[in-house]
Amino acid sequence: MKIFAYGIRDDEKPSMEKWEKANPDVEVGYTDQLLTQETAKLADGANGVVTLQTTPYERGALEALKEQGIQSISIRNVGVDNFNFKDLNDLGFKLTNVPVYSPNAIAEHTILLMGRLLRRVPEVDTKFDNGDFTWAPTIGKEYREQTVGVIGTGHIGRVVIKILQGFGAKVIAYDVYHNPDIEKQGLYVDSLEDIYKQSDVITLHVPLFDSNKHMINEKAIEQMNDGVFIVNCARGELIDSEALIKGLDDKKIAGAGLDVLDNENRVFGKKWGSIDNLPSSDIKNLAERKNVIITPHNAFYTETAVHNMIKISFDSNKALIEGKTPDTLIDTNK
Ligand code: NAD
Ligand code: COI
Repeated sequence: MKIFAYGIRDDEKPSMEKWEKANPDVEVGYTDQLLTQETAKLADGANGVVTLQTTPYERGALEALKEQGIQSISIRNVGVDNFNFKDLNDLGFKLTNVPVYSPNAIAEHTILLMGRLLRRVPEVDTKFDNGDFTWAPTIGKEYREQTVGVIGTGHIGRVVIKILQGFGAKVIAYDVYHNPDIEKQGLYVDSLEDIYKQSDVITLHVPLFDSNKHMINEKAIEQMNDGVFIVNCARGELIDSEALIKGLDDKKIAGAGLDVLDNENRVFGKKWGSIDNLPSSDIKNLAERKNVIITPHNAFYTETAVHNMIKISFDSNKALIEGKTPDTLIDTNK
């Protein structure tokens, strides 16, 4: 049996080599390139592929894999929003993800972004860089004084809630599905409108679908409290950047912590030298603000997460090739 992996980084190699040693019946091939129609031929001779990318998986790439007899794909991450399920179904592909590699990685990053906003850390850092060791005007806010609205109480949202409760914040939550533990604590409100109206800080932890693209738009922002903070470690397309910029200009929004951005592939994953060189006006606009903190979709990026992403994706791909049904299998008919 052979598995071919795409987009392999140096930091993933020790875990991949460990997996190979533990699975001597599987030959592993890999490349640092992403899966495209052109690179699909690198997997020739393999029975399945393991991949990770934030760019769309093109139908042409899937067709090229199928021509080589490959119909098993295992991604090393959670979100499956860059696949077209119709393409997968038309071509008879089976897809697995890694639904739980380390929710704590993303949750901790979320809390750090929130804390940096509340304590105005970018402004304090700039003052420090200028040799200004005074206090004013960067007076901060405490977590325990905040009502934090958590949208999405899945694996990540629930860890976010637990950490927030440790800090003494008041948490309210919204999800289309009610988790029994969060329900028991009485944290759910009935609607997104309730979250918008009651929260000092709003944090997003839902998957991206066609139906919730730009859910944080001008209308949603209008309903929010003046001086709200917004944190997004889920998917960039959940927030309409133009509406966010308007909200920041109007001072309706006091700040934003963004690990993901609308159409982020324009800028993430590349070295620009300076934010002055960013090619996208909306991202540059956001990046230049002291009350906006941007991180390059690295909320997931911890040693524990990377190790689990490799192990679970390779285990899943092997299981698919053996004709088994791993519990990481995605229902592409949904
Ligand atoms: P999850 O599937 O465990 O939880 C998602 C929750 O969202 C579920 O409880 C679901 O019922 C709820 N939901 C779905 N649609 C909804 C809607 N329209 N309104 C309200 N609730 C809705 O997923 P997770 O592991 O918590 O991850 C959440 C998202 O975080 C992923 O889909 C992915 O996009 C993103 N993510 C980002 C990073 C990163 O590095 N920034 C890493 C991993 C995951
Ligand atoms: C995910 O796991 O869905 C992420 O957003 C992480 C990223 C490496 C794609």
